[in-house]
Amino acid sequence: MVDPTKGWEHLWKQPEIIQRGWHRPNPEVVSLAQRLYDAGARRALDLGCGPGRHTLALAKIGYSTAATDVSPTALTHCATWLASEGFRGAICEADMQALPFADAAFDFVVSYNVIYHATRAGVVKTLAEIERVLRPGGKLFVTFIGTEDVKCAEYRRKAALGEGIEIEPFTYRVPNDPEEDGDLPHHFVDEAEARALLASFAIESLVAERQERSDNQGRPFVKVHWHAQCQRGD
Ligand SMILES: C[S@@+](CC[C@H](N)C(=O)[O-])C[C@H]1O[C@@H](n2cnc3c(N)ncnc32)[C@H](O)[C@@H]1O
Repeated sequence: MVDPTKGWEHLWKQPEIIQRGWHRPNPEVVSLAQRLYDAGARRALDLGCGPGRHTLALAKIGYSTAATDVSPTALTHCATWLASEGFRGAICEADMQALPFADAAFDFVVSYNVIYHATRAGVVKTLAEIERVLRPGGKLFVTFIGTEDVKCAEYRRKAALGEGIEIEPFTYRVPNDPEEDGDLPHHFVDEAEARALLASFAIESLVAERQERSDNQGRPFVKVHWHAQCQRGD
């Protein structure tokens, strides 16, 4: 049972949040999904689907699509959005660390800005679940939040002030974070840590995506996510 005031559940209850970019699929995901589909992939999982931008993109390409999340509001949005465009999918509430699917059920798993909402052990468990539900040779597109992201320094500062918690090195929580998702753990990675976490996969590409932005007072900050494309071994 998800606390409606916490995590992403309270954010997805605010329609304006979805309009801040969460309604458009990431082009990198769409082009990879299309290439894999053209090469024969048919069964896809959008793990931590949120309101469903990638679930819908996968369905539009032609995949038989499943989507999971822990936010009931996101799942309702995802199912409604899919239906409104004439698609169906297996959409279900599930924690990423215990996926309700058979071994080798998918050819392709997408997990965009999701799996780092955990301790390191939780990220490891999630990646083991992804590996289990992917068929041998199946593909994974996954993102991690970078140690250079503005949030890492911000959470570290809050932990030092007693406003947040350092659970372990590079993993923080900010329990009273009403406007964001800081009450969930965040595990931040550099390239070496991303490679270590993905050690059982064959990494085909690993790229840091940097977005330079400025706050409402014009102060610059940077958002950094590692984007990984990998293959499950045989
Ligand atoms: C940043 S949003 C990304 C949503 C979606 N992947 C997208 O790109 O539009 C993170 C999502 O991860 C989900 N999430 C967080 N912890 C989760 C968990 N333990 N299991 C499954 N989903 C989780 C949240 O509910 C939220 O919808």
